[in-house]
Amino acid sequence: MQILGIDIGGSGIKGAIVDTESGAFVTERLRIATPRPAKPAAVAEVVADISDHFKWSAPIGCTVPAVVQRGVTKTAANVHKSWIGADAASLLQETTSNPVLLLNDADAAGIAEMKYGAGRGRDGLVAILTLGTGIGSSLFIDGRLAPNTELGHLIIRGKDAECRATDRARQKKGYSWKQWGKRVSEYLEYLESLIWPDLFIIGGGVSKRYDRFFPYIRCRTEFVPAQLRNRAGIVGAAVAAEKLA
Ligand code: BGC
Repeated sequence: MQILGIDIGGSGIKGAIVDTESGAFVTERLRIATPRPAKPAAVAEVVADISDHFKWSAPIGCTVPAVVQRGVTKTAANVHKSWIGADAASLLQETTSNPVLLLNDADAAGIAEMKYGAGRGRDGLVAILTLGTGIGSSLFIDGRLAPNTELGHLIIRGKDAECRATDRARQKKGYSWKQWGKRVSEYLEYLESLIWPDLFIIGGGVSKRYDRFFPYIRCRTEFVPAQLRNRAGIVGAAVAAEKLA
């Protein structure tokens, strides 16, 4: 099946048509800068532009960096506060004139990794963590998603883990790979002591440089880099939307 996947991020909104058998892009990826302020109506216009660009009239899978329950966005950690309580799925449906399945960005990335990437064939408890602007988390129990976990907001040394272990924190605070790797390690060690996973999959754009910071990770759980990297959100969103087709 072919489904349009769209990934709403803080700096860019990206879309491509995905072959959900193979997880491959059938088209080029289109990226449009996220409008500022990134309020739901303005973002929905860009999502509609992407849908129009692909002349799409079928279900769309779409991610947001927020908790999504029954189409309503419930949080807004790194996005405009007006997403909180917005009926975002209905808004996107009206603006694109297509059925829209809306889900959390890390949940989408996790779905893609479990189906086509580092989590393929893995059972038990798998935690996918995306280290980007925020820390996104998704948990799979024997391959089944437990949606909307927000494990990036654990408090470590009195601070939200996002202030220490995101790629944004690394760049903003000028941490060396070693300094940052130790912070990522501390976060993983804390998390594993609470949830005891069988596998950590570390994603986000920075995961392509895993060889720089993995040497500093000391957790007891097996950990591997994500394989789909910046394709994961789009691919996972498309897979999630298959149920609308
Ligand atoms: C948000 C999550 C999101 C993650 C990655 C966090 O700040 O709370 O919902 O998945 O960032 O974008």
